[in-house]
Amino acid sequence: MQRTEPLLFTIYPNLKGRIPWIPLLTNIPTPIERLTDLERMFNLKGGQIYIKRDDKSHDVYGGNKLRKFEFIFGDVIKKKKKGVVSYGGIGTNHGLACAIVCKKLNLRCNLFLYNQPLTWMVQRSLLLFDYLGAKLHYGKTDVNTFIKTWFFQIFHPKYYFILPGGSPLFGRGTSLGTIGFIDALLELNEQIVKGIIPEPDAIFIAGGTTGTAAGLIAGCKLLGLKSIVYPVAVYKDFLANSFNTARNANKALKFLRKMDHNFIKIKVTENDFYFIKGYLGSGYAVNTVKSQNAVDTVYRLEGQKRGFHLETTYTGKAMAAMFDFLGKKENKSKIVLFWNTYNSNDLDHYVKSTEFNYQKLPNKFHKFFNNIIFQCWQITECPTEIREKCRAYLNQEYRFWKITKCSLDKTKSEKALEVLSKLIKLEDT
Ligand SMILES: Cc1ncc(COP(=O)(O)O)c(C=O)c1O
Repeated sequence: MQRTEPLLFTIYPNLKGRIPWIPLLTNIPTPIERLTDLERMFNLKGGQIYIKRDDKSHDVYGGNKLRKFEFIFGDVIKKKKKGVVSYGGIGTNHGLACAIVCKKLNLRCNLFLYNQPLTWMVQRSLLLFDYLGAKLHYGKTDVNTFIKTWFFQIFHPKYYFILPGGSPLFGRGTSLGTIGFIDALLELNEQIVKGIIPEPDAIFIAGGTTGTAAGLIAGCKLLGLKSIVYPVAVYKDFLANSFNTARNANKALKFLRKMDHNFIKIKVTENDFYFIKGYLGSGYAVNTVKSQNAVDTVYRLEGQKRGFHLETTYTGKAMAAMFDFLGKKENKSKIVLFWNTYNSNDLDHYVKSTEFNYQKLPNKFHKFFNNIIFQCWQITECPTEIREKCRAYLNQEYRFWKITKCSLDKTKSEKALEVLSKLIKLEDT
């Protein structure tokens, strides 16, 4: 069910009507669960581990995006735009969320995309962008793509320009997305007050454009919580750093004060949170040993039975940092919360509807599919009746042997194993 108003407006009624907002999220508040098997693995001494299930924030597409989009698309509607334009890597989750919301609101969606390491998830996203009606443009490198997007926006003023990740970039652009996560922290605080979770000592979150983390940090400061947010850099240093994070948090707080002069005057400093680096690998979306290990361990111990799955670009890296934190003696008694920013709803039926027909995409994107196969069933030509019942079919990644035992002829499964294991490149950080 969609909510009628964000907590931000309930708690600060003067903001209502002054800040654009539309209802999008369907499952608020998102649940908080205690990860006891993970606690046992770390042999905690009084410490507790929790997860904030934002992966279920929406019936179709959970994760961190729609919290931002309730405010950003509120502005799109208020400004009567005919669509949006945004950019990101060829597998961008932000772009996917844009396409889903645009379809729901009957808006046009233009996505400008640049290269990132190719995986099945990237192919899947490209197919879904097209299926959802987004118009795709290719820019190769991030800088080139940004310039192309910028030009598009100049010549198409009826399109609302959403910066990557829905966050300000180098201090420019709207703070509305960040405000979505100040609202999320108010939600967490209610759950603390209700006794669903003790006040966490540490909150771990992936930090890309850092709007998500900045909102949580600003929220903690606003409420005077003792919780320390640990954003974990999953993008290059020029973007994902503590200076930008503090700046994003302060920009959002300043905006709230502008909208309501009675809003408390506070300032976030870089000492209010703990920005973690060292888990990125050599670049954005590069898979690392630590990230893959965190994804696999959490799935085996908790995700499988609870219905969530981390991925290696964002949440795996944030979780890897949290693992190292929990491994330290001085942290064994800490209350730790992992904020899950990655969708866990099944998108497979949409993927199937695309019929894997990448030819429908603009020509420039065909090279990401031509003779590049990530799924075992594509290599083995697995019959429909077998693959439809197999857990490896359309699975999140391509290590089918991790997921189930192949029921096909041994030569076929061995061939698939050989081809796919060559594709796995893990970086040691
Ligand atoms: C799954 C996931 N987690 C975290 C992030 C990072 O959020 P932010 O860009 O606000 O730092 C993203 C951004 O795309 C994401 O897709």
